[in-house]
Amino acid sequence: MLTIEELSVFCKKKGIVFPTAEIYGGLSGFFDYGPIGVELKNNIKQHWWRRFVKQREDVVGIDGAIITNPKVWQASGHVECFEDILVEDTKTKERYRADQLVEDALNIRADGLNAEDLWKLIEENKIKSPKGNPLSKPRQFNLMFRTHVGPTESDSSTSYLRPETAQLIFTNFKLVQETARMKLPFGIAQIGKAFRNEISPRDFLFRSREFEQMEIEYFFDGEKESAPKADATFLFLSREAQKKSQKASQTSVSQLKRLSKLHAYWLVQAYQWYVDIGINPKKLRIREHTEDELSHYASATFDIEYEFPIGWKEIHGSAHRGTFDLSQHEKSAKVQLRSFDEESKTNILPTVIEPSWGVDRALLAVLCDAFDDDKKRGNIVLKIHTSIAPIQVGVFPLVKNKPDVVKVAQKVAEKLRMFTLQYDESGSIGRRYARADELGIPLCVTIDFQSLDDNAVTIRNRDTTEQVRVKIDELTEKITGIFEKWKA
Ligand code: GAP
Repeated sequence: MLTIEELSVFCKKKGIVFPTAEIYGGLSGFFDYGPIGVELKNNIKQHWWRRFVKQREDVVGIDGAIITNPKVWQASGHVECFEDILVEDTKTKERYRADQLVEDALNIRADGLNAEDLWKLIEENKIKSPKGNPLSKPRQFNLMFRTHVGPTESDSSTSYLRPETAQLIFTNFKLVQETARMKLPFGIAQIGKAFRNEISPRDFLFRSREFEQMEIEYFFDGEKESAPKADATFLFLSREAQKKSQKASQTSVSQLKRLSKLHAYWLVQAYQWYVDIGINPKKLRIREHTEDELSHYASATFDIEYEFPIGWKEIHGSAHRGTFDLSQHEKSAKVQLRSFDEESKTNILPTVIEPSWGVDRALLAVLCDAFDDDKKRGNIVLKIHTSIAPIQVGVFPLVKNKPDVVKVAQKVAEKLRMFTLQYDESGSIGRRYARADELGIPLCVTIDFQSLDDNAVTIRNRDTTEQVRVKIDELTEKITGIFEKWKA
């Protein structure tokens, strides 16, 4: 079975993801995306943006600042509460996340345990550091990266890199509502970088210190909640999501029914999006946060987890944030962050459901899901869904030393520029197909000697290796048709 280490080696080899600034030895928890990786990541973000912003009347987008007024993070509770618990190797002074050491040593879920409980488990089970040395008593560690704004470095110039994109949505709530003339219920979406000084970044892209989020804050009147297609939502949850995530699911149908309608609606939208970008539903499950796992702002959270080679892990969180954030900012900034309700002629403090997707974790799940070490073919095939494939079409002249064939191939490539395309004339055709498979190129078009006579080319399907002969004049239509069929 594929390991996460093997995947990271493959990603480096294929220009998907590199350790950052590798020539200097990299930096733990930071990565650079290569030519293939950046295309894949952009396609994932664009797919999401199209689905949740462009194709909806009730959601608009913003792009907020990464560094903002530090009062935002005081009001949001991040300065006080956004912490993990660390322990130190008493000899080497290396630091570790206490819950992860406990999880690794005892094979239990320790996320959400407090420092006292973790210390008890460490002492009782004589858990040592990975280097085999005794551990210090656990203590809290704030995960926000600090920086100074301006030329002086003092307490008053301290600010933070945002640890979530969400707060910029809350602070812009009033301006967006007014300028975009939005009425409850409506959502504000954002895609962007978030930064967390993780104590133990690990598992490749899964836990990094710089990553991207795709978040929506969906505002509604908590007194009269309504969810689009709510009934269908419940039906879907009980019939589809549960059936597909099968026994793996830790959340029962009765638990899901306790969800508020809108919360359930967004959980389904999130789940369906993963399925639509090609993730195998059998590798997805829904899990509710226990009381002690909940973030300081959430009253209920449901994660969507993916079965990575490292086990079932969160790729999405859907949180009920209530009125926590807007009321905190109202108090702190001394402004009203409300919506006028025409019916009751009152100002309402909106309630919020927050679906939050990690871009890098979505990409990691896509790669794990698509990775197929095809022993029969003798190469890896990345079976990435056509809607997000980094390169859609490969164009290959059968030989590179026959100017007539090359000329036709170049003409075909020009014709197909509407797709993301790779023109490749080096190496044997078999080697080029193998390279295309490894980059997840769904269709390859080969121009051979016969093409000069019959004005036709061969299209090869990545997943089946089947080949069909198509007239050059009908090529664009044919490829578009195959992609459409694949999408459905
Ligand atoms: N605004 C809510 C929020 O930030 P979260 O569960 O802390 O909630 C949301 O983060 C998503 O961001 C996660 O489901 C995950 O996909 C991604 N994420 C969080 N921390 C991450 C990290 N250290 N590395 C990569 N992705 C991360």
